[in-house]
Amino acid sequence: MHPRCFLLLLCLFLFFSRTGAVFGYGLIRCQLTSTNDVAYLAQIYFNKVLLAQYNSTAGNFSSYTESTKEIVDNLNKNPTFLKQERKNEETCRTDIQLALGLFLKPVEPYVSLKSVEAASSTHPAMLICSVYNFYPKQIKVTWLRDGKEVTSDVTSTEELSNGNWLYQIHSYLEYTPRFGEKITCMVEHVSFQDPKLYDWDPIPASEKNKIAAGTAGLLLGLAFLIVGIICYKKNTPGRSLVPTS
Ligand SMILES: *[C@@H]1O[C@H](CO)[C@@H](O)[C@H](O)[C@H]1NC(C)=O
Ligand SMILES: *[C@@H]1O[C@H](CO)[C@@H](O)[C@H](O)[C@H]1NC(C)=O
Repeated sequence: MHPRCFLLLLCLFLFFSRTGAVFGYGLIRCQLTSTNDVAYLAQIYFNKVLLAQYNSTAGNFSSYTESTKEIVDNLNKNPTFLKQERKNEETCRTDIQLALGLFLKPVEPYVSLKSVEAASSTHPAMLICSVYNFYPKQIKVTWLRDGKEVTSDVTSTEELSNGNWLYQIHSYLEYTPRFGEKITCMVEHVSFQDPKLYDWDPIPASEKNKIAAGTAGLLLGLAFLIVGIICYKKNTPGRSLVPTS
């Protein structure tokens, strides 16, 4: 199991019999599921046998033995007990948030900037700044045009849960490109010391490689051409530097 997927706050209450041969205990579990839901369970064990429990997901007490059936039925009819358990569930929710803050370290996002077909006709171009796999949820994604914040024609998704404790968010900018301008996606997150800037480069890396390869080819061709010209000149009669007498 992913270490971030499971968190359990345990409270143990032990009670021993006089003889010391048998013991019972109550167990309160405040548990976070992988979908970030809280499950609160209060269980009573006697000699390792589960007698009864309150399950916050079901919202009631249930009995696991015949002997406790009647007690449990009465508990389920008792609004005070049910109300108290719902209160405990709320406490569990708050405590878990606090515990998460202590145990879960921020995770740095991975950012990708790409251009897509514009969805509307007002602007011919659209960029997506996709920010993946960050924790915690709080994040700020801003667009800058030549260093100035752009607020119009910007849309964004919510912070979407990946289901593994990490989040992703996608911000869209619709714009009309201007020659020589610089468009930047700025990401602010607690995992960064300073805001991180991702500049939009209209020429993708693969294209750059092609250009680099093309340039190298061209230079190589030029080198052969120069060598060729020199050799040609050297071998041209009358222009030879070596006397032939
Ligand atoms: C609590 O109740 C829910 C819904 O009824 C169930 O899916 C879950 O397994 C129960 N948990 C335990 C520990 O019994
Ligand atoms: C507790 O609630 C669950 C789901 O709502 C239900 O199936 C179950 O019969 C209830 N148990 C009791 C003892 O009321």
